[in-house]
Amino acid sequence: MGKVTKAVIPAAGLGTRFLPFSKAVPKEMLPIVDRPVLQYIIEEAVDAGIEDILLVTSRHKKVIEDHFDRLLDLEASLEAKGRNKELKQIRDIANLAKLHFVRQGQALGLGHAIGIAKEHIGDEPFVVLLGDDIMHPKTGVLKGMIQAYEKHESSVVALMEVPQEEISSYGCAAVEEMNESLVDISDLVEKPAVADAPSNLAVMGRYLFTPAIFEEIEHTKPGVGGEIQITDAMLTLLKSEKILGYKFSEGRFDTGKKIDYLRAVVELALERPDIGEEFQEIIRNAASKR
Ligand code: G1P
Repeated sequence: MGKVTKAVIPAAGLGTRFLPFSKAVPKEMLPIVDRPVLQYIIEEAVDAGIEDILLVTSRHKKVIEDHFDRLLDLEASLEAKGRNKELKQIRDIANLAKLHFVRQGQALGLGHAIGIAKEHIGDEPFVVLLGDDIMHPKTGVLKGMIQAYEKHESSVVALMEVPQEEISSYGCAAVEEMNESLVDISDLVEKPAVADAPSNLAVMGRYLFTPAIFEEIEHTKPGVGGEIQITDAMLTLLKSEKILGYKFSEGRFDTGKKIDYLRAVVELALERPDIGEEFQEIIRNAASKR
């Protein structure tokens, strides 16, 4: 059994739910106070023991590479001014993990984007973190999934109950209970109609795959929305391998969705020791004026 050290972060989407902002700036670069969404996601991966991260990006997303690169002239000027705190912050970003970038030339779907990672991953288990889903560090979802893999040696996917009427925005899993947080997946369907959904358990943006997923992706035909869906590749993997569900109930922010992005900003800013209190006052005042 291999140790899980590699991650893939698909960040190639067009960001249509966040127009006009996402016209020139990738939605993964939206700031939560002073760090872009993607930095939170990379920090979560590193915190769970990931050392090597492949980002699948697309045209117009060059700014992502710039953010995680060294910026020597800025470093020199901060150093000269004795701005050591800021200097450390920007140096740390470039040292978070071994980062690699590859482009998805055509928007052919999430399954296709993950498939591009095949050569980079090789014959190892790996995790996938969707580039716009932030998980609060307190949830420990990714760490829990890695522990589940280490015990059961099978693929694991994060699942959360959603109101039944929202299930058609997600991959949906039918499951058999194992213990409180782990379930055995028996069926998967991408964005089902509410009436056809086998449950209200939605696939959330964290996956842990054995390398067998790549072969399934290669044989997956376009599905919902004409895209190659990872959910469909997982459904065929299910015929030869077990897939576990790791259930959690809170702490996920879909920052690609306007209202959930705002919730992320508010909740995460309120927790900041440097600005939290002052921000709470601002929110109180603003709410009392309505
Ligand atoms: C993707 C997946 C879906 C999953 C969702 C989680 O959908 O295809 O199975 O439930 O992410 O955010 P998207 O949100 O890209 O439409």
